[in-house]
Amino acid sequence: MDYFNYQQDGQLWAEEVALSELAERYGTPLYVYSRATLERHWRAFDQAVADHPHLICYAVKANSNIGVLNVLARLGSGFDIVSQGELERVIAAGGDPAKVVFSGVGKTAAEMKRALALGIKCFNVESEPELIRLNEVAGELGKVAPVSLRINPDVDAQTHPYISTGLRDNKFGIAFERAPEVYRLAHSLPHLKVTGMDCHIGSQLTALDPFIDATDRLLALIDTLKAEGIEIDHLDVGGGLGVTYSSEQPPEPAAYASALLARLTDHPQLELIFEPGRAIAANAGVMLTRVEYLKHTEHKNFAIVDAAMNDLIRPTLYQAWQDIIPVSPREGAAVIYDFVGPICETGDFIGKDRSLCLAEGDLLAVRSAGAYGFVMASNYNTRVRPAEVMVDGEQSHLVRERETLAQLWQSEHILPQ
Ligand code: LLP
Repeated sequence: MDYFNYQQDGQLWAEEVALSELAERYGTPLYVYSRATLERHWRAFDQAVADHPHLICYAVKANSNIGVLNVLARLGSGFDIVSQGELERVIAAGGDPAKVVFSGVGKTAAEMKRALALGIKCFNVESEPELIRLNEVAGELGKVAPVSLRINPDVDAQTHPYISTGLRDNKFGIAFERAPEVYRLAHSLPHLKVTGMDCHIGSQLTALDPFIDATDRLLALIDTLKAEGIEIDHLDVGGGLGVTYSSEQPPEPAAYASALLARLTDHPQLELIFEPGRAIAANAGVMLTRVEYLKHTEHKNFAIVDAAMNDLIRPTLYQAWQDIIPVSPREGAAVIYDFVGPICETGDFIGKDRSLCLAEGDLLAVRSAGAYGFVMASNYNTRVRPAEVMVDGEQSHLVRERETLAQLWQSEHILPQ
């Protein structure tokens, strides 16, 4: 459930603020987030595992605006990061480094140093060379790095191939069969302390089975390691819980958590870590865009809007479907439109074959845009990236200013005479 609803005046609102007012005030395209929705989604995870030791580490990559991170940090959230940039954002937003887990296959020595200096909770290590490098870097700093190994459980997440990460052909993680050997290596290295085990099998999962299969495999591995004297304190099940974009019916965090907890009855002390990104942020945001032109051709009708693939790339990159709804619905016959942007590529679309009654200047909301929306925006076609606004009850806060054209080339240089 989210807080983007039509109110009695027939208009679409975010919490207690009319979206049309925000478009007037801040311009379009515009990303609008709802604080109440972010908090509700985060709490849904936290409360689902209330009685078991746990940490919710929001996946920063889904939406890394420091306003968003700050809202979650105030709830006591941990964070899953994949770069030093994300780590610095967490710190800038008031997040606690002791609740940060560091994922990703390509951590540099400099990134490791910074994370060790700040004292993060754990490095989610994805390969042996990374393990060896982390041991060296920690040794140079006179520190001991807490490590978890990302295990590739080889389960099919049944999602889009670009966002499925738990199969043996993916670049991610350590093969299940090799895991005991790599754990032994980690255990033997002097500047590492084995603390956890993690996995992440994919994103936008709408069934529980793949999560449960992966967890069962990891729990068996944890027991094998324990018999060898290698103790695992936490199990990090990654992110990946799906959301409703159209008719998907993903499990609620409560159902997901109770299925996991039922598996953990023999491991009452094993801390459970979740890394949800999309499930917290996607439906906590919309992207507002205005209709510039309605173009009718013999074969198709196009609504040319002021947002483009540089602002929201999911539809064209993953053939992702995101709902497009009018902020002020109008009476009249609906027409089928393709919603396209001003960029010079056929792939520049936000949605296809949508039936709406429109006029030039109409304001539209692209739903479910809070995750992997702004963060994947670019300046292609020398377009400024949109502004971002956080609604909080009756208030709205500009959490990122719209870029200016001058900013786009301020660090470029022309050649000397
Ligand atoms: N943890 C790790 C290690 C991850 O790689 C990811 C996402 C997450 C957590 C968060 O997953 P979530 O809960 O958001 O599914 N750009 C794509 C999604 C890429 C996801 C990459 N990894 C999209 O727009 O659909």
